[in-house]
This record gives sequence, C-alpha cells and structure tokens, in this order.
Amino acid sequence: MSDVLYFNGRWTTTAERVLGVEDRGFEFGDAVYEVFKFLRKRPIFALDHFRRMDRGLREIEMRNPWNEITFMKTMEELLDRTAFESGIVYIQVSRGESERAHFYPDDMTPTAVAYSRRFNFPDQTKKERGIRLITVPDLRWKRCDVKSVNLLANSLAKKRAQRGAADEALLVGDGMVREGASSSFFVVVKGRVITHPLDEHILPGVIRDRTIGLALAAKIRVDERPIRETELLDLDEAFITSTTMGVMPVTEIDGRVIANSRRGEITTGLQRLFDDLELREISQNRAVV
Ligand code: PDD
Repeated sequence: MSDVLYFNGRWTTTAERVLGVEDRGFEFGDAVYEVFKFLRKRPIFALDHFRRMDRGLREIEMRNPWNEITFMKTMEELLDRTAFESGIVYIQVSRGESERAHFYPDDMTPTAVAYSRRFNFPDQTKKERGIRLITVPDLRWKRCDVKSVNLLANSLAKKRAQRGAADEALLVGDGMVREGASSSFFVVVKGRVITHPLDEHILPGVIRDRTIGLALAAKIRVDERPIRETELLDLDEAFITSTTMGVMPVTEIDGRVIANSRRGEITTGLQRLFDDLELREISQNRAVV
C-alpha cells in the first residue's frame, strides 16, 4: 500500500519512484535520517528529532533544507494528509544527486524525503512481558552519534538477534556495552539507573534523554558512564528506550534471566511516567507551530 510522501518540496506517494540511482544516500550512505512517532495525528518530540538531525547534518557538513518552522509545518501537513491516526514518520536528508565520485561537489542540493507509516507499537501485554536481548560485537563506524543511514552493522546484529529468538541486539565494543542496534540501553543496580554517556559510541536517543529527565525528577539517581560487559552478570533490572518501543523492560540477556523475568520496579515506574509524558505531549501539541 502506498503512503503519502514529501519529496523535495512536493507531495506524492511512496508508489512513485522518486530517487535517482546516483543519489548519494543510495550509493554512499551519505545521508541522515530520523524516526518520530505520532498519535492522534499529533507528533511526539518532533522538535527534538529535528534538532538531532540538524546537529548530525552539521557534523557531516551538509545543508539542512529545513529550519524549525518549515520542518514543523511540513510535518503538520504530512500528518494532515495521512489517512491514519497513529504511526511513525520517517525523514531522510541525503547530500543529493551527482555523478558517482567520492569527491562531491560543494554546491549540492540535498534530497529531503518524509513519509508516514502505520506501526504496531507494543501493547500493554508486551510492555509488561518485556523483551530478550543477545550481545553482539559493535561493528559500526566511529561516529555513532550521527544518525546516518549506514545501518548494515545494525541490521546484521538485529538479524542475529532474531535468529537467536531475541528481540534486540546489544552492541558491545572494547568490553563496554554501548547501546541496542536500534535503541538506548539502561541497567538498574541498587536503585541507580546507569546508561552510557553521550559520546561518539552511541546515538543521543530522544527517549533516552526524556527518560533520564523523568528519572531525575522522580529523585532516582542516574549515572551516565560506560557499562562493562561483565556488569551484565549482576544487575537488578535492565530496559531499553526508543521512539517505537518507549521504555521497554529487558527480561533476558544472552539467555540469563534478569529480575526473575519480571518487569522491575524502577523500570515499571519509568515506563508509566514515560507513557504519561507522551500523552501530555500530544494533548499540549494541538498547534504544532
Ligand atoms: N532507532 N540507538 C540507535 C542505534 C537507534 O537506531 C535508535 C533509534 C536509538 C533510540 O533513539 P530514539 O530514542 O531517538 O528513538 C538508539 C530508530 C527508532 C530506528 O532506527 O528506527
């Protein structure tokens, strides 16, 4: 089924083959992307996503075709044109199209696309049941803070997880647990929440940031420091966060059961706080701009 598609300032559908074969996003992975969630046609944390994309574009010396106002206007129009109430919006900006060469011209026009998709967000049963993880080596490039479309290592890791009857792969580099293949990772030890600090090893997750804010407001101590792989052997709770999963309990890592396979107390609290925050966001967000 085709969905409404924004392509470089015009509206079409995903049925149209809009992209040139020499678009650098296609040939070089020379592009960044974002995924945000919407409920009742209201975007959730869309500006946070825009700001992360803007920073990523600056880091790779690419022009942003939008500013905050034109971005939010485009997203509002996209959701207006969308036939369903909730789902995700995928946005991608590539450096544009030019004759294939590693050296790219200075004056390229970026390719900007955005489209909405239906998405099966986890229901209450899944949120209570939690997910299983396996650890895999982190084979990604050294600028994981930039949300580039180079997702080969992430996809291979996810596929390994799936084959191992797990839901997500936990990426481990230099003996440190970095993050999930498409999520941020947290552990809880003795009442403290621990997660990797913001650096080039992880993506600055929008939901990670919001969850830390909720934990601090609830007077839960948060340590942002790398987690050694060996620490996975002795933890009270673990959870992941992402746009599509929200706050999701982890009940097993590499076959070892965590918190008796039940959703931990702190995880449960943060999950509830986060779900409330999302609902507040859509009720406050009546006018997006
Ligand atoms: N992935 N880390 C990685 C490597 C990710 O790909 C993602 C998100 C996250 C969580 O970021 P956020 O909280 O901003 O969603 C962390 C998206 C959902 C995706 O690739 O589909």
